[in-house]
Amino acid sequence: MPPIHVHFLPELVPAEAVAGSCCVVIDVLRATTTILEALAAGAVSVAPCLTIEDARARHAEFGPDAAVLGGERGGRPITGFDLGNSPAEYTAARVSGRTVVLTTTNGTKALAHCRSASEILVAAFVNLSAVTERLRKVAPSLAVNIICAGTDGMITREDVLVAGAIVAGLNSADTLLDDQALLARDAWLALVADRSVVELEVRLTEAMRASRGGRNLIEIGMASDIELAARVDRHAIVPAYDAKRGLIELGATRA
Ligand code: MLT
Repeated sequence: MPPIHVHFLPELVPAEAVAGSCCVVIDVLRATTTILEALAAGAVSVAPCLTIEDARARHAEFGPDAAVLGGERGGRPITGFDLGNSPAEYTAARVSGRTVVLTTTNGTKALAHCRSASEILVAAFVNLSAVTERLRKVAPSLAVNIICAGTDGMITREDVLVAGAIVAGLNSADTLLDDQALLARDAWLALVADRSVVELEVRLTEAMRASRGGRNLIEIGMASDIELAARVDRHAIVPAYDAKRGLIELGATRA
């Protein structure tokens, strides 16, 4: 069975090292949670862009009827954009039948880092079981690289917890886990060990409030996004990023 690698930051894996593998990208607060909410709300696709200028240009190509422009800088909405990066903003009324052109600080960079992979999947707590199930099918034939976006080059516990939950869910005794995969799994198992005391989502919300990404959101008055990001298995979808077309879609990967 090919190994499962976890990378606590995209910078910890050279872009060419992911070539031909299956990459799973995690930025639970909030880019990947937002992408999942948008697609679950009926967005046709999400077009991740690295810069504000690229996003404006891509949005103009689609046209305002076919696309909405969303994203953040410093966590805050970008002047002139339709939406920020709060997952709750991506309702059917705003995005159904349209493409979401999205630029975020770390999440869209992490996706771009994986462009040479064979398959690039989008993960967060809201699609935990669906993405784990998908990996169970992929793992026997492809090496898996689970990539945490982090924040500005710093490791964030919230992304590591999602990675750990996926690794624990795969629960495969005959698969080689690297040290970051083992660390992530241990962090997740330690968090859920005492699940009877407090509901899992409450524990997760607490853990994410105390993490780097959570503290940043609290500081800018967006703490409610953390609760939504902690809603495990809210969606049974597994979006895939087609780096050539620059689009994230559900396509054949709907679980
Ligand atoms: C990012 O891509 O850096 C994040 O999603 C940041 C955020 O949402 O505040």
